[in-house]
Amino acid sequence: MEAANAKRLQNQVAIVTGASSGIGQGIAIRLGQHGANVVVNYHSDDEGAQATKDQIEAAGGKALVIKADVSKEEEVEAMFQTALDTFGTLDILVNNAGIQKDAALVDMTLDQWNKVIGTNLTGPFLCARAASKIFLKQGIRKEVSRAAGKIIFISSVHDIIPWAGHVNYATSKGGVAMMMKTMAQELAPQGIRVNSISPGAIKTDINKEDWSSREGEEKMLSQIPYGRIGEPDDIARVAAWLASDEADYVAGATIYVDGGMTLFPSFAE
Ligand SMILES: NC(=O)c1ccc[n+]([C@@H]2O[C@H](COP(=O)([O-])OP(=O)(O)OC[C@H]3O[C@@H](n4cnc5c(N)ncnc54)[C@H](O)[C@@H]3O)[C@@H](O)[C@H]2O)c1
Repeated sequence: MEAANAKRLQNQVAIVTGASSGIGQGIAIRLGQHGANVVVNYHSDDEGAQATKDQIEAAGGKALVIKADVSKEEEVEAMFQTALDTFGTLDILVNNAGIQKDAALVDMTLDQWNKVIGTNLTGPFLCARAASKIFLKQGIRKEVSRAAGKIIFISSVHDIIPWAGHVNYATSKGGVAMMMKTMAQELAPQGIRVNSISPGAIKTDINKEDWSSREGEEKMLSQIPYGRIGEPDDIARVAAWLASDEADYVAGATIYVDGGMTLFPSFAE
C-alpha cells in the first residue's frame, strides 16, 4: 500500500511553515518523500531548517529554505513570491508554525497575548490568503491533483478543550478552528480543500518541559487512552494523506490525531 502511494504528491509544491523543528519538520520531510517540492519556512533556527532540507534532498526531493516571520505581512508576501519564482506553482500550504507563551490570566502581558495571537492566528490567515490568491489564479492542475489547492492547519486539541494558564494559546487555536471552517466553506466552490489536524501531545520542543521528566511524562500518558505520546511523524502521515487526492472529498474537517486525548476528561473509571 505504502509503495503504491509512495509518490502521491509528485510534482506538487508545498509550503510548510515552522518547518525547522518538530511537527513542521516531520511534515516537510514526509511531503518531500511523497514527491513534493517543499518550501521549508522557518523563523530563527537556521540549522534546523537546513537539517529539514538535507533530509528532503536525501530522500530525492527538492527543498527551498525561506526565512520569514509568519506574523509579518511583508515577509509572508515575499516568501510566497519567492516560492512561486522558484517552483512556478503552488499546490499545498501547511499552516504549522506556532508558539506558546504561558501565564496565568492575571499575569499575562499584552506582549505574550499579541505574540501568540500574531503567530498562531494572524500568521495562518496571512499565509492562507497568499496561498488562495495563487490557487485561484492557477486553477486546477489536473496533471497533479483533483483540487485547485489544499490548505492544512495544524491546530490543537485545545481548539475544543479549554486550557487554564494558556488563554492566549487556547484562544488562538479556537480561532484557527473557525478560520478553517469559514475558509473551507468560502473556498470549496473554487476547488480548494481546507482542513485541520488537531494534534494531542506530540514530543517536540514546544512541550519538552512536560515530557522530559518521568513525572511529566506519566502525567501526559494518563491523559492518552492509546498509551503513548505522539511523534511528529504521527501528524505528518495524516498531513500527507490530507494533501493527497486520497482525501479528495475531505473539506472543512478537523482530524484529532491525539491517541484519544479528546475522549478526556473521562468520567469512566
Ligand atoms: N507538540 C504538541 O504536543 C502540539 C500539540 C498540539 C498542537 N501543536 C501545534 O503544532 C505546531 C508545531 O509545533 P511543534 O510542537 O512542532 O513545536 P516546535 O516548537 O518544535 O515548532 C514550532 C515551529 O514554529 C516556528 N515558528 C515560531 N514562530 C514563528 C514565526 N513567527 N514564523 C515562522 N515560524 C515560526 C518555530 O521556529 C518552530 O520551527 C504548532 O502550531 C503547535 O501549536 C503541537
